[in-house]
Amino acid sequence: MELKGLILSGGEGTRLRPITHTSAKQLVPVANKPILFYGLEALRDAGISDIGIIVGDTEEEIRKAVGDGSAWGVRVTYIRQEAPLGLAHAVLTAEEFLGDTPFVMYLGDNLIKEGISAFVEEFRNKEVDALILLAHVAEPQRFGVARLEGNRVVQLVEKPKDPPSDLALVGAYMFRPCILEASRAITPSWRNELEITDAIQYLIDNGYRVEAHIIKGWWKDTGHIEDLLEANRMVLEDIETSIRGRLDEESRVLGRVVVEEGAEVVRSTLRGPCIVGKESRIVDSYIGPFTSIYCGVTVEGSEIEHSIIMENSTIRNMPGRIEDSLIGKNVEIDRSFILPKAFRFMLGDNSRVGLI
Ligand code: TTP
Repeated sequence: MELKGLILSGGEGTRLRPITHTSAKQLVPVANKPILFYGLEALRDAGISDIGIIVGDTEEEIRKAVGDGSAWGVRVTYIRQEAPLGLAHAVLTAEEFLGDTPFVMYLGDNLIKEGISAFVEEFRNKEVDALILLAHVAEPQRFGVARLEGNRVVQLVEKPKDPPSDLALVGAYMFRPCILEASRAITPSWRNELEITDAIQYLIDNGYRVEAHIIKGWWKDTGHIEDLLEANRMVLEDIETSIRGRLDEESRVLGRVVVEEGAEVVRSTLRGPCIVGKESRIVDSYIGPFTSIYCGVTVEGSEIEHSIIMENSTIRNMPGRIEDSLIGKNVEIDRSFILPKAFRFMLGDNSRVGLI
């Protein structure tokens, strides 16, 4: 069966401000790879080569990062959504691209460790109208939750106070074209979005067959900083040591550490799992477990642990350890010795600073 892919990479990303004031959250690097690339790879590995990417205001940046898809051996079509009016609205926006081909819809800010190949294979072999991906979770109240009878999905509820099960919707779905009819039939929710859960419920209520596939491995919706850091932690858990950059004799590497080409580590300790990106410089510093330092970053006289530092940022002479942090691009954090002694900030809207 021919299948297309639809990756949703628009949205507003309000929960990740201020990063999302200027950049796409789908391009935040997890273990030094933009989140969106994990989704592209998952689709490619499942044998899907015709992929539409829904984009919004961050279209340019996403086009620049992904190009025509040839780097992954796939063909990418960009589809502009006029506003983030919901996942089912994104499906309708892609109507022309989808035609009457069944497709996999993948949320561009989600990471699914085991990929989606088994799930796609199951859909190819089944006569179902929709196959949704579910996972057992500890706090179903925070998710879209499904009630099953056997394999069949009989009800979907968004963030239920009294969850009918502990099975949460994961960010990948398989649909036949009837989802277009369903998306046209529903009305916007209280938050003024066309909800994919409502469209799937329409399918159930109108006699279409909706089944579920339950995944065993971890997955993450990285819409929020804590989830992003956790995803980073989980991906770093699996890295293998590879030192392609330069380490001087006074530097120490403990545990599994990646130092990419062109990076330089001077009089510093790297305690893995952690990764230092291309052309980054770590001097007189300590980089601790679960830290991802992206490209062109400078860290001097500082300690960092359990954090993501994005490209071309500079961190110097911090008096305390940086932890649990997400630092955007071109950020400068420096300790000033100028008098009078003072904190001097230039922070964008919605920035968060925690001092000791
Ligand atoms: P969400 O994380 O549900 O929404 P959001 O990106 O607007 O974030 P927030 O809630 O913090 O404001 O979206 C899941 C994925 O789908 C994400 O990659 C963005 C994308 N998306 C679209 O492409 N179009 C849309 O209309 C919506 C709502 C989301």
